[in-house]
Amino acid sequence: MTKTTDQKVCIIGMGYVGLPLAAVCAKKGYPVTGFDLDEEKLEIIKQGKSPFHEKFLEEILPQVKISVTNDPKEIQNHDIYIICVPTPVDGKHMPILDPVIGASETIAANMKSGALVILESTVNPGVSEEVVRPIFEKAGWTVGKDLFLSHSPERVDPGNEKWNVSNIPRVVGSFEEIGLQRTVDFYKSIIDGEVLAMENIREAEAVKIIENAFRDINIAFVNEMAMSYARIGIDITNVLKGASTKPYWFMAHRPGCGVGGHCIPVDPYYMIEKGKENDFEHKFLSAARHINDGMADYTVELLQDKLNEVGMAVKGTKVGILGISYKGNVGDLRETPAIRIVDKIKKLDADLVAFDPYIPTMPKFATTKNLEEILSRSEALVLVTEHNEFKNIPVEDFVKHGIKVIIDGRNCLDKKAIRAAGIVYAGIGR
Ligand SMILES: NC(=O)c1ccc[n+]([C@@H]2O[C@H](COP(=O)([O-])OP(=O)(O)OC[C@H]3O[C@@H](n4cnc5c(N)ncnc54)[C@H](O)[C@@H]3O)[C@@H](O)[C@H]2O)c1
Repeated sequence: MTKTTDQKVCIIGMGYVGLPLAAVCAKKGYPVTGFDLDEEKLEIIKQGKSPFHEKFLEEILPQVKISVTNDPKEIQNHDIYIICVPTPVDGKHMPILDPVIGASETIAANMKSGALVILESTVNPGVSEEVVRPIFEKAGWTVGKDLFLSHSPERVDPGNEKWNVSNIPRVVGSFEEIGLQRTVDFYKSIIDGEVLAMENIREAEAVKIIENAFRDINIAFVNEMAMSYARIGIDITNVLKGASTKPYWFMAHRPGCGVGGHCIPVDPYYMIEKGKENDFEHKFLSAARHINDGMADYTVELLQDKLNEVGMAVKGTKVGILGISYKGNVGDLRETPAIRIVDKIKKLDADLVAFDPYIPTMPKFATTKNLEEILSRSEALVLVTEHNEFKNIPVEDFVKHGIKVIIDGRNCLDKKAIRAAGIVYAGIGR
């Protein structure tokens, strides 16, 4: 019998999901080919580097060999294909499945009989069956005979130092037993964690949507409570600390100036649209999206209010944005609330400058080279991203540079010390 790691693995999409997976497969002994359309990204990977900052990858990449290509012919003769391409939404929040369709067509045109194809991209229930499967059938392949088709949604959390692709448990769904078993065996060979076989492929798709919608809804809930409590002078961070002492049925989520990344602000729309196809209105998911999207406006309103408190207007004030990426200690800009916040503050005619240690320059953004420079060029600060570099700024540095107002969009600064130093401080519900 063929040893599992004798199988050649081809990963389509060398991004935040595909590259770590390729590295883990290679580390476990699989021959791995990475296929991507982005030549610049491939050039970086060829040098053994990661195109994005990720501690886990920086450690593992120098230890492994991954062949990368943008030539579809080089993906022929592989045994396992894993699709890790983006699943974004357009300006009207409609799902864009073109990358999934493109990747499926590339595989269908180049695979050999007997291949296992696993979709890891996040999709709503039904995409494997209604979009992916027909592409392979149109190319003449019969599912369950020439081709085994499965779905295992990726749950990776970039920047998370405890959980990564090699230890996050998996769920797997397939169209039939052989495909299901091969997929379970494959993931068991690369991860130290549970691999749960779902009853069908739709359930596996549904798992990912419910996980990310759960997070979006809970963040929206805590954002709503934060804004309401703020009106009556209650600090939500203390309330959450108190509520977290309850040992069961409470899970604290944190309020903030906006939800970003490729998953949480995107995936609920896949289900909202699927619901519409079936005459079902996802009121809860839509309300959560509405609240979380509104947090950028709320943050800018806080800035206006607090500047007014010290007799200043946003217009003409030197405002420094601390952090552009969507979350702490990563350099990912996708769906970052910083863009909305900056646009709104710019419209109010502030003299705006931004700094992010993970994103040195940005088109259309005035960025500074370092922390010292942004502090010296600001009268008010809006902290958008919880980078470690910002959490540790000594209060004396704010004072030394004459900062008058701080809006802490991640509730990560020392409120009491900042206020004691005579600086006006507001967090989100704090
Ligand atoms: N980023 C995350 O934290 C995360 C976590 C869990 C799940 N996911 C899901 O995983 C999927 C991939 O996300 P990502 O963050 O890795 O995206 P990404 O943009 O970082 O990487 C995707 C890569 O796919 C390439 N690509 C696009 N179309 C292609 C095609 N037709 N053929 C070959 N390559 C193609 C792009 O050039 C890009 O390099 C998405 O569905 C996302 O929702 C992402």
